[in-house]
Amino acid sequence: MKFFIDTANLIHIKEAQGLGVLDGVTTNPSLMAKEDITGKDNILQHYLDICEIVDGDVSAEVVATDFDGIVREGEELAKLHEQIVVKVPMIKEGLKAIKYFSDKGIKTNCTLIFSSGQALLAAKAGATYVSPFLGRLDDISTDGLNLIAEIRLIYDNYKFETEILAASIRHTMHVINCAKLGADVMTGPLSSIDGLLKHPLTETGLSKFLEDAKSFM
Ligand code: G3P
Repeated sequence: MKFFIDTANLIHIKEAQGLGVLDGVTTNPSLMAKEDITGKDNILQHYLDICEIVDGDVSAEVVATDFDGIVREGEELAKLHEQIVVKVPMIKEGLKAIKYFSDKGIKTNCTLIFSSGQALLAAKAGATYVSPFLGRLDDISTDGLNLIAEIRLIYDNYKFETEILAASIRHTMHVINCAKLGADVMTGPLSSIDGLLKHPLTETGLSKFLEDAKSFM
């Protein structure tokens, strides 16, 4: 399972990268705005800064919603750095653009996926990644994990190569349950990665080992 961090915060990205288990980064316009990154040049520079920190794929989202605009923006993003993956919303024009990018060998992440039908379309268009939003489904009392399971079944049935990127991950149990269901990638905040480290028995066990080790010194 690949671990992506879902943030545009460079400190968090560096910290996750330092753990040695980070495979990539996902961003979206809201995450960029949270870091006060505004203006086209600053936004493009920020993507480059992220690519400097990590080795893997970095999703950068288009904001156009028409085919020509998505293609123009996506091609510019893809040219910026080889690690950039063009993130495209699951809308009709986005689907057409994903097919266009796929034919040109440009990697894509189809975002805002809330149903298995949407995921099926994204795979048929040749998306590199599909991003079902787990937490946002849970927010409206719908089982987000069930969507991951459905997409896994459908993709396995037809051997689609599109990777399931479980997104809108909020906590460690989302990560663990997605791993059990066979999601290819999870993207979440630093806390969802850090939290996996923690167990009270590890802490008390280590304290005891260190106390007993005092007699060795
Ligand atoms: O990757 C998608 C993600 O950024 C959405 O997360 O927590 O805003 O639902 P959230």
